[in-house]
Amino acid sequence: MRAYRGIARPLIFTLDAETAHGLVIRCLQGAAFLAPAIGRLFAVDDPLLETTVAGLRFRNPIGLAAGFDKNGAAVPMLAALGFGSVEIGSISRDPSAGNPRPRLFRLPDDHAIVVNYGLPNEGAAAVATRLARMRVSIPLGINIVKTNRPGASCETKDGIIAEYADAAITLAPYADYLMFNLSCPNTEDGGDFFADRGCLDALLQALDGLGLGVPVFLKASPRGGIAAIERLLEAADPHAFVSGFMFNLRPGKPDGLKTPETVWSRMPGAVSGKPSAALADQCIREIYRRMDRRRYAIIGAGGVSSAEDAYAKIRNGASLVQLLTALVYEGPMVVRSIAAGLAELLRRDGFARIGDAVGVDMRG
Ligand SMILES: Cc1cc2nc3c(=O)[nH]c(=O)nc-3n(C[C@H](O)[C@H](O)[C@H](O)COP(=O)(O)O)c2cc1C
Repeated sequence: MRAYRGIARPLIFTLDAETAHGLVIRCLQGAAFLAPAIGRLFAVDDPLLETTVAGLRFRNPIGLAAGFDKNGAAVPMLAALGFGSVEIGSISRDPSAGNPRPRLFRLPDDHAIVVNYGLPNEGAAAVATRLARMRVSIPLGINIVKTNRPGASCETKDGIIAEYADAAITLAPYADYLMFNLSCPNTEDGGDFFADRGCLDALLQALDGLGLGVPVFLKASPRGGIAAIERLLEAADPHAFVSGFMFNLRPGKPDGLKTPETVWSRMPGAVSGKPSAALADQCIREIYRRMDRRRYAIIGAGGVSSAEDAYAKIRNGASLVQLLTALVYEGPMVVRSIAAGLAELLRRDGFARIGDAVGVDMRG
């Protein structure tokens, strides 16, 4: 990790953030033939980290969050980095160019990224064609969203729901689980659509009839506090296909950034990484407190860059953890380092299985 921070990161950071992102994805894609060798080097095989969530077996609970590999171009190499799961997307029914550039910025002082991509992706059919040719050794999540059409006039509720359903039908055959992104913080129309309980009910109703055949998770906005969490649970409860939840980034800028306002005020978008952790953890605790724990699982994300961060989310109630920003700041070894460190922490605290640590800080 020191080599990455000392050599690779300064070089990568000379490029603008989106150019660097695209280059890294192309390199990982081109190096797919190295995946078996890299996989042996990066793997952490520790039975303590193995876990089963929503009927799926994970070799460890550390997953890649949606947004890094939007089109599923680099899955074999990403799986080889030691992740227990990889989530690709967000993918919409139709291709989208996303928001105008520049739309991705780094905040190094905060170990954060400002993201205003607006869901650029190749569309469900193109990604499905790519995935049909790919073999993936770990659970693959596919994150689904409505097509972002910047500047388009308001779309109807039925149209939006049909888009989710169409994308889900196209992609479900290639997914181990589907994540429905209900809350992209940086699109014109998608942000608050599902804050309306009627819209969420209508979506879940529509999905219920599809027989998707894979577990479904809902990625909700972290805004709205306890009332929004209770609404989410009430909406999900009648639909047995919903296996759990995670929370997205909040729109806008959180308080307390170290980066001066004169810098971030010129960067539209939501903030990932360390500054997103506090709200994410609060949402994890509040939903864990209220949900049916025999039925639902939480995937915790937001500012995970160390074993301690991952462990804290698990102790707060997350069964699985995801990261994205830490890959940018700490490099590819971060996955192995977190997984190995997490096993040590679990052993130190006397847990025989990772599942026993889920939510321990919420008991009593
Ligand atoms: C560059 C970037 C792109 C993202 N794109 C998506 C996306 O397309 N869909 C989605 O559900 N979340 C997206 N996210 C949110 C992440 O999946 C994750 O929930 C969030 O970044 C918190 O994790 P982190 O702090 O480890 O980055 C994106 C985040 C970043 C930084």
